[in-house]
Amino acid sequence: MKKFIIKGPNKAIKGEVNISGAKNSCLPLMAASILFKNKITLKNVPFVKDVFTMKDLLVSLGAKVYFSESKKIMIISNKNNHKLTVPYNLVSTMRAGVLTMGPLLARYPQKRIKVALGGGCALGVRDTNWHLAGFKSLGAKNSLNSGYVNITTNRGLIGNKYKFPKVTVTGTSNLIMASIFIKGTHYLKNISIEPEVIDLINFLNNSGAKIKFLGKRSIKIKGVKELLSGSHTIIGDRIEAFSYLCVGAITNGKIKINNINPNHLLSEINILKKIGYNIETKINSIKISSKNKLKAINLRTGPFPNFATDNMPLLLAVLTTVKGKSQIEETIFSNRFMAAPELNRMGANISIKKNKAIIIGQKKLNAADCISSDLRTTFSIILGAIAASGSSTISRIYHGLRGYYNLELKLKKIGIQITSKS
Ligand code: EPU
Repeated sequence: MKKFIIKGPNKAIKGEVNISGAKNSCLPLMAASILFKNKITLKNVPFVKDVFTMKDLLVSLGAKVYFSESKKIMIISNKNNHKLTVPYNLVSTMRAGVLTMGPLLARYPQKRIKVALGGGCALGVRDTNWHLAGFKSLGAKNSLNSGYVNITTNRGLIGNKYKFPKVTVTGTSNLIMASIFIKGTHYLKNISIEPEVIDLINFLNNSGAKIKFLGKRSIKIKGVKELLSGSHTIIGDRIEAFSYLCVGAITNGKIKINNINPNHLLSEINILKKIGYNIETKINSIKISSKNKLKAINLRTGPFPNFATDNMPLLLAVLTTVKGKSQIEETIFSNRFMAAPELNRMGANISIKKNKAIIIGQKKLNAADCISSDLRTTFSIILGAIAASGSSTISRIYHGLRGYYNLELKLKKIGIQITSKS
């Protein structure tokens, strides 16, 4: 299994990073291909592990997929009828496999869709009860059998109303996709307005769907007869972007990131400014540098436009080096502080109480051998290793490769002393 070896401390790192397309946009967009009679073309595709897993999943359902990594494009065509069983081996390695439920149900409402439930994951319990309750509001019943949820309707899907009890990202995307061909109009309230969900809505509307915002978190979806073909350029990855901004932050360096809409990181930029970093934004880039005295802060994660839970472990690493007492409250997942024990092994002082982390910032971290346990934890540990004195080895970095494109290369290019071994 591949490991990273990072020699530190890397100080005052300077450079530019080109941000890839957003994984969490790409996955639902790929699942949305099931809705189309002909082909869809996706541009700015990030060819990370999860994207290949979703490709395998679509192929197993009967789609034909052509892609060019150098051109960053993927073409998915659905000339044949799909198979209607989503197997456990693909959903268990990538939770986003549940995103096939909505489009399969939309396209084949009177057949029986069988989707393996993914179960828990490293971040804590990850239920699909609100996805299923949403499908029920459209007239779809479900039953659980041997770890698979079976979904079907008697009379097809009929527009109604559904309010999500709490914001769910993939739940919103699934319900939107399920509603595309309904009879009548479906009203959804308390939806996720993460940029990746808006990306999906834009793609579907540009391809002939009828989704309209009625308020900040409310939409109506009017059923259309069919979707034929579509083409879309995926937005830049705001989590990858923030990860590299944190490289600039933790090394007191100067980093410019390109291909990112700063409006997708407004809360994160505010927090960096509050700590004392200088941030300059342009329409499609963000620059970070630090001249000022840095100070500890308190923050709370939340659904967009609040500070993203995915960006929290990255800031956690940065705060271990900022003098004073910082506090982070995590409101989305029950187990999101997995980077803390690894950073503490480098000499950080983080204590966890329920959903809060107290960080007593200090100036120096020391290298340690660490094990990664999920996607964003990998980058958090990388940040610690970048700042720490000595050589750190990070195992199980396959978690990181699920979502960061060309991770080693991008870090090397800005001057991080990183190598890998199997
Ligand atoms: N939840 C339920 N029932 C549901 C749906 C969600 O209880 O039916 C709970 C979850 O257990 C969780 C909370 O609601 O506590 C929010 O979960 P959400 O459904 O929003 O998360 P997700 O859609 O499964 C996506 C991203 C995650 C990101 C979260 C939160 C994708 C493919 N995944 O997950 O990304 O952390 O939203 O923003 O879009 C990552 O990229 O590393 C990653 C984990």
